[in-house]
Amino acid sequence: MVAQVIDGKAFAAKVRAQVADQVAKLKEEHGITPGLAVVLVGEDPASQVYVRSKGKMTVEVGMNSYEHKLDADTSEEDLLALIDKLNNDPAVNGILVQLPLPKHLNEDLVINSIDPAKDVDGFHISNVGLLGTGQKSMVPCTPLGCLMMLRDHHGSLSGMDAVVIGRSNIVGKPMAQLLLGDSCTVTIAHSRTKDLPEVVRRADIVVAAVGRPEMVPGDWIKEGATVIDVGINRIERDGKNKLVGDVDYASAAERAGAITPVPGGVGPMTIACLLANTLTAACRANGLAEPEGLTA
Ligand code: GUN
Repeated sequence: MVAQVIDGKAFAAKVRAQVADQVAKLKEEHGITPGLAVVLVGEDPASQVYVRSKGKMTVEVGMNSYEHKLDADTSEEDLLALIDKLNNDPAVNGILVQLPLPKHLNEDLVINSIDPAKDVDGFHISNVGLLGTGQKSMVPCTPLGCLMMLRDHHGSLSGMDAVVIGRSNIVGKPMAQLLLGDSCTVTIAHSRTKDLPEVVRRADIVVAAVGRPEMVPGDWIKEGATVIDVGINRIERDGKNKLVGDVDYASAAERAGAITPVPGGVGPMTIACLLANTLTAACRANGLAEPEGLTA
């Protein structure tokens, strides 16, 4: 079988266009412009690139973007004071604190100081609990993007066997909750899983989110399975820098029914879902109906 390529870049552009339409409607009908505040502490080069890209796309869909760049040695007190100000600013519907934070800052404390209704990353402990109990929450952007692609490809996911490789709070655990919410039979596999190849071979859906370049070979993939590759790993091959996923794309594409490429798969969906979450937060904050198809 030669896999259908799931084009995340094109899908993300479609999601952003939907968000832009809804934002225009919010402005026209209610005079509301959603706002996203992004907080960056320090000068991590990769984080700077992400933050710039988030700001640019926020403006492109017609929302207001507020960037707060703080020195690497900013105190916890000052960062918490900024978050408190943003929590109380009605122009700000979404707050994202770019991770990782410098070592002297307590990441859990900082994340849990964000108003859960503005926590567009879905990392606040209240949102984690709401998702885990099937209640309305803010859903982490990367797993939400994966879910949207799976729903788009399959329609219903009900009864499918899904294996999530990786148990991070940002991707693995919320991904498993979302798949369970869509009535999949879910296995979370990780570095201590016994006989990982056999576990993966059972799966109709494989979501790989471990951060290890090409660790899933094609012969672990069941014929016709759908493979969602969350990994973005920089490697050097033949003297060139290259981006590869957690799945060995060439061999997996020979067995899978559908597969996301790296780059151009899950990656672009993450920012699209951040914008979707900001729109959702703005609708909820104003007592308006949520945008259809852009939430879990
Ligand atoms: N750093 C890398 N990915 C993310 C993300 O999704 N959210 C935040 N806040 N920081 C990140």
